[in-house]
Amino acid sequence: MAVQPTIHDHLGRAKPAGHAARPSDRQALRVTVVGAGYVGAVSAVVLAHLGHRVTCVERDAPRLERWRDGEDPLKEPGLAELLKEVRIRFVGDASDIAFADVIVVAVGTPMGDDGRPDLSQVDDAAIQIGSLAREGAVVLMRSTVPVGTCDRLQNGPLRHQRVVSNPEFLREGRAVHDALFPDRIVVGGPQEARDLVERLYGRIIKGENLFGGDGTAPRVVPVVWMSPRSAELAKYAANGFLATKLSFVNEIANLAQAIGADAGAVLGSMGLDPRIGPQYLHPGLGWGGSCFPKDTRALQAIADGAGYDFVVLRAAIDQNTRQLSRFANAVKRALPAQSRVGLLGLAFKAGTPDIRESPAIALAGLLIQSGLRVSAYDPAVRALPADLGVMVHSAVVEACAGADAVVVATEWPEFADMDLEAVRAVTRGDLLFDGRDLISPNRAVAAGFRYQGLASLGE
Ligand SMILES: NC(=O)c1ccc[n+]([C@@H]2O[C@H](COP(=O)([O-])OP(=O)(O)OC[C@H]3O[C@@H](n4cnc5c(N)ncnc54)[C@H](O)[C@@H]3O)[C@@H](O)[C@H]2O)c1
Repeated sequence: MAVQPTIHDHLGRAKPAGHAARPSDRQALRVTVVGAGYVGAVSAVVLAHLGHRVTCVERDAPRLERWRDGEDPLKEPGLAELLKEVRIRFVGDASDIAFADVIVVAVGTPMGDDGRPDLSQVDDAAIQIGSLAREGAVVLMRSTVPVGTCDRLQNGPLRHQRVVSNPEFLREGRAVHDALFPDRIVVGGPQEARDLVERLYGRIIKGENLFGGDGTAPRVVPVVWMSPRSAELAKYAANGFLATKLSFVNEIANLAQAIGADAGAVLGSMGLDPRIGPQYLHPGLGWGGSCFPKDTRALQAIADGAGYDFVVLRAAIDQNTRQLSRFANAVKRALPAQSRVGLLGLAFKAGTPDIRESPAIALAGLLIQSGLRVSAYDPAVRALPADLGVMVHSAVVEACAGADAVVVATEWPEFADMDLEAVRAVTRGDLLFDGRDLISPNRAVAAGFRYQGLASLGE
C-alpha cells in the first residue's frame, strides 16, 4: 500500500504536534461536536489541539468504539498521531451539549432519493441541541446544508441559541492539514457570535505556528463574514465550480483526442495561467466522492427552486455521467461477455478508503451489468458489500490473475509505480485501460500490454 505521509511529513515539522503552546484558560472554550465522521472527528481533534475542551458525540456504536479505542477508522494522514496527543471525550450520549459554549454540527447530509440533500440527521441533531443547549450558545453548522437551513433552524428548534453557518472545505486524504491550515474561514451568522467564533479559531486565524517547528511560514487566514444564506451558498458554489472545472477538463481531453491534439500538453499549458491554476486539471473517468455529486445536485435544486436555469452546472453534471459511460463502453467493446476485469482502485480518489459515490464502483457496476466479471484491489478498501458482485483481493497481482483486461480506476501512486511485467505475467489478456492517465504508456507497452489511456479510447 502506498503510505500516505503523516501530518508531520506534510508540514515538514521538526517537532511533534503536541509541542504546540496551549491557549490560556480564558481563551479555551467548551466544545461539543455532534457527529464523528470526516468533518466532525477532524474538527474535534483540531479544536482539542488548539486547546479547547472537546467532547465528540457519535451515535453509531461501532464507529464510536473505534474512536474510543484510539483508532482512526477514516485513515486520514496525521489524525491517529494527533489523536494520541489530545484529550477528547468520545461519547454516545449527547448530554454534554448542556455545558458547551459552542456546539459543532458535523452530521451527514447524504443525497436523498430525489437528488436533494436528506436533512434528517441535521434536523434530529438540531432538535436534540435545542432541547439541551444553554441560551446563547453558538451552534456552528459545519455540515453542508441547503440555503436557508440555518435561518430555518434559528427560527425553529434553535431559537434560543445562535446559529452560525461555517462550511467546511477540507479534502479527504488531506483533512487534518486542511483543517489546521484552511485557505479561508467562511462564517455566516449574527454579530453577537463573532467573538466566540474568533476565539474558537484564534490561533488558526492568526497564523500561529501550531507546531513550534520550522515548517510552513505562518499565514494569517482570512475570515469572511457574511449572511448565513451566503455562507451556505459559498460552500455549494465552491464545490460546483470545482466539479465544473473537472467536467470541462474532461471535455478538453476528449476533444483533444478527437482532433489529434495532446491533452496533456494543452492542459499543462493552461495550468501555468494563474487565472486558471494547475489544480483540478487532470482528466479522468469522472468525478465522484461524498461531496461533489450530492453538492452539485443540491446546487441544481437550489437554482431550480429559485426558478433559475443553471445551464453550466446542469451540463457539468451531465458531462460527468457521459464521461464514465464513455470509459465503460470502451472496456465493454474490447471484451467478450464473461471476460474478467482486474480493477485497480475502488476508493473515489487516492488517499482515502471512502467509496461513497466512487466512479470506480460505478464503473464496476456498469461492467458487471454488461456481463463482465470484476475482481478488484485497492490499497485502502478491503471489502465491499456482497451485492455489488465484486471480488476484492489483497494485492494487485491477485486481482489481475487470469484477467482479460486490467483497468486503473483510482489514482493511487502505487499503481503508477507497480511492476507491470509482474502484472502482465499473471493476466490472460494484454489490455490495460488507464482511467486516470496514471501509467506511462511506454512502460505499459514495454511490459507487453496494449495501453488505452483516456486519449486513446475511441468513441
Ligand atoms: N467528507 C468530506 O470531505 C466533507 C468535506 C466538507 C464538508 N462535508 C460535509 O460535512 C458533513 C459531514 O460529512 P462527513 O463526510 O463527515 O459525514 P459522515 O457520514 O462521515 O459523518 C457523519 C457522522 O455523524 C453521525 N451522526 C449523525 N447524526 C448524529 C447525532 N444526532 N448524534 C451523533 N452523531 C450523529 C453519523 O453516525 C456519522 O458518523 C456533510 O454535510 C458533508 O457534506 C464533508
